Amino acid sequence: MILREATPADDAAIVETYAACYPSRVLTPESVRADHEAAPPQEHPLTVLAEDGGKVVGLARSHVDLESEFTDLAVTTVMVLPGHRRKGVGTALQRRVAEHQRAIGMRRTVARTADADGAAFASGLGLAESRVERISFIDPSTVEAPGPLPEGITLRSLGEIDDLRPVYDLDCAVSADVPSATPFQPYSYEQWTVSIVGTPLLDRDCSLIGYADGEPVVMVFCDTAGTRMFSGLAGTRADHRGRGLARVVKAHALRRAAGKGVREAYTNNDDTNAAMLAVNTALGYREHSRQTLVLGPI
Ligand SMILES: CC(C)(COP(=O)(O)OP(=O)(O)OC[C@H]1O[C@@H](n2cnc3c(N)ncnc32)[C@H](O)[C@@H]1OP(=O)(O)O)[C@@H](O)C(=O)NCCC(=O)NCCS
Repeated sequence: MILREATPADDAAIVETYAACYPSRVLTPESVRADHEAAPPQEHPLTVLAEDGGKVVGLARSHVDLESEFTDLAVTTVMVLPGHRRKGVGTALQRRVAEHQRAIGMRRTVARTADADGAAFASGLGLAESRVERISFIDPSTVEAPGPLPEGITLRSLGEIDDLRPVYDLDCAVSADVPSATPFQPYSYEQWTVSIVGTPLLDRDCSLIGYADGEPVVMVFCDTAGTRMFSGLAGTRADHRGRGLARVVKAHALRRAAGKGVREAYTNNDDTNAAMLAVNTALGYREHSRQTLVLGPI
């Protein structure tokens, strides 16, 4: 087994490894490349591959978490194909990225465990469980037509909006309310336009914003790739909550996605986020899996 840094020729193998270890992730080789190119230098991104007999059997990634107030926090991802586990591959990969993380001044890390193997591995590293996320699944073609929009609300797709600054402000406001293992700090507007809105998977027809009195008050952002979709952020401005806005806008987004041929849609929610879990359940989402966020020293 050898460890080496990933090159652009490995983008397809990276997508396949995610598909085996984190099946709800929606990625393409093009999006892996674009994310790499969009990463600001302060993230110090690193992807290391483990190869056995010329085949990629695992990988580890690291980047500095610029969306946290902690200045010494790195995000770590380690994954090994199921048939190659318990042979020390994960340990070798993790040591390689931890070396890099220490060298750039990082002292703590967050990681996301995908299964019982991951939980045991993280516990062996001294990482403590901080919160649990529920991954939910729906076939968007099963979503019923939504009722009318509440009075005064107009809907625009992301592709129809010229001035994105108010959408950024809404994103910052709702993201601050999403449960997180570490104190949240938003990207700058410039970085947001590159790392969030500029990514090739962000679907400009299915990502929808609801306006009231000319201001965005509800948003649903969706990534799509062929028949698959992942919706990361859905949020309603605090003074418009409790009106059914998130549900109706997400229903529109899912039906648009169904119209484009999407048949597998995933979303993630903190296990304590009762409001969003209720919206998703009402739309017909069902639990797919759970992931535990772990945090600790490097
Ligand atoms: C976590 C993962 C990367 C480990 O890969 P691996 O190559 O099997 O790891 P290693 O062989 O180096 O195992 C290191 C130690 O982790 C612990 N461990 C790993 N899997 C375990 C399991 N199923 N049960 C108990 N302990 C386990 C053991 O202490 C093991 O050492 P040992 O085999 O000497 O007992 C792999 O299981 C995986 O890809 N899981 C899905 C993704 C994920 O959750 N990543 C974790 C992010 S923190």
